[in-house]
Amino acid sequence: MEKKITASIIGTGSYLPSKVLTNKDLESMVDTSDEWITTRTGIKERRIAEDDEYTSDLGAKAAVRALSSAGKKPSSVDLIIVATITPDMLFPSTACFIQDKIGAKNAACFDINAACSGYIYAVEIAKRLVEAGSHDTILVIASEKLSSITDWTDRNTCVLFGDGAGACVISGENSGKPRVLYTYTGADSSAAELLMMPGGGTRFPASIQTVENKLHFLKMAGKEVFKNAVLCMYKASEKIMKKYNISIDEIKCFLPHQANVRIIDAVARKIGIEREKVYLNVQKFGNMSAATVAVGLDEVFKEWDLKSGDKILVDAFGAGFTFGSLVIEW
Ligand code: COA
Repeated sequence: MEKKITASIIGTGSYLPSKVLTNKDLESMVDTSDEWITTRTGIKERRIAEDDEYTSDLGAKAAVRALSSAGKKPSSVDLIIVATITPDMLFPSTACFIQDKIGAKNAACFDINAACSGYIYAVEIAKRLVEAGSHDTILVIASEKLSSITDWTDRNTCVLFGDGAGACVISGENSGKPRVLYTYTGADSSAAELLMMPGGGTRFPASIQTVENKLHFLKMAGKEVFKNAVLCMYKASEKIMKKYNISIDEIKCFLPHQANVRIIDAVARKIGIEREKVYLNVQKFGNMSAATVAVGLDEVFKEWDLKSGDKILVDAFGAGFTFGSLVIEW
C-alpha cells in the first residue's frame, strides 16, 4: 500500500528591509501622532524597502534563508509560488524574477493574488501538490513592497503598512518536521471595493488621469474593513476547527494576520484563546499584507518554545475579501 504523504514545512525564512520608519517619523509627514497610531492600531514602526529594492529582492532573500534552514539547494525546488499584491511588474511573475535571483533553475513559477490571505492560499496549493505526489519541494514566498502603492499624503492609510517577505519550503518527504495538517480558504466579494488599488489594470489602464486621480495607490474604507476583518477571521478559525474537530485548548499558538491589534484582540476574544497564546508582530512591522503571517511563522518556529504535537492556528483576511486558515502541527 502507498504511504500517505502529509505536507511538511521543512524550512522557513524571512527578510525585513533595514530602513525603519517610526510613528515619530510619520508625525513630520502627515497630520498624525504616535499616540493616535499606537492606540488605534498597536503599530510603533514599520520597515521600508529602498527605491531600488524590489519585491523580488525581498522575496529572494527570504527564500535563500528558508532553503538554508531546510538544508535544500535551489536546484532541488520544483515549484515557486509567490503571494503578492505588489509584484515587480504585472508580468512576468515575481516568482520568475526570484527563480533567476536564487538559481532555482528546475522550478516552475507563478504568482497568486489573494491579498493578505495570499500566503495561506499558497500553502494550501503547495500542500495539495506535494500530497498528490506531483511535486517534491515547493518554495512558498510571500513578499510585499506596500510602500510602493502607499499614498504618503493620506494619513488614513500611510500609517498602517510596511514592507517585508517570508518564505517556507514545503515538502512531501515526511521528515517529521512541522506538518500542515489542515487548510481552509474562502472569499466574500460582495464589498470588494472597500479595499483596492483601482489603477493599472484593464478597468483603469495607466494614464495621466489615473496618476492625477491617485488611482495607483491603495484605497480603503477603514471602519468597514475593520468590521469585515473581525467577522472573516473569526469565520476562518471557526470553520477549520469545526471541520476537523479541533478544540481551542489544543491550540498552543494563534498566529493571526497583523493589520491592527484591535482586530486581533476582537478575533482572539471571539474564538476564546488566551492573550499569551497570541503571536504579535504588528508593533514592529505594521501590516505587510501576505508577508505578515509568512514572517510570523518564521518567528514562531524560531522563537516559540513549541513541543512535538503542539498546534499552531494561522488565520488571515484580506482584500477581496479573502480569508483562510491553517492548522500546523509541530
Ligand atoms: N492620525 C490621526 N488621525 C487620523 C489618522 C491618523 N493617522 N487616520 C485617520 N484619522 C482620523 C480620521 O480622519 C477621522 O477623523 P474625523 O472623525 O475627523 O473624520 C478619525 O481619525 C477616524 O477615527 P476612528 O473612526 O476612531 O478610526 P478607527 O478607530 O476606525 O481607526 C483605522 C482607523 C484605519 C486604524 C481602523 O479603522 C482600521 O484599522 N481598519 C482596518 C484596516 C485594515 O485592517 N486594513 C487592511 C486589512 S487586510
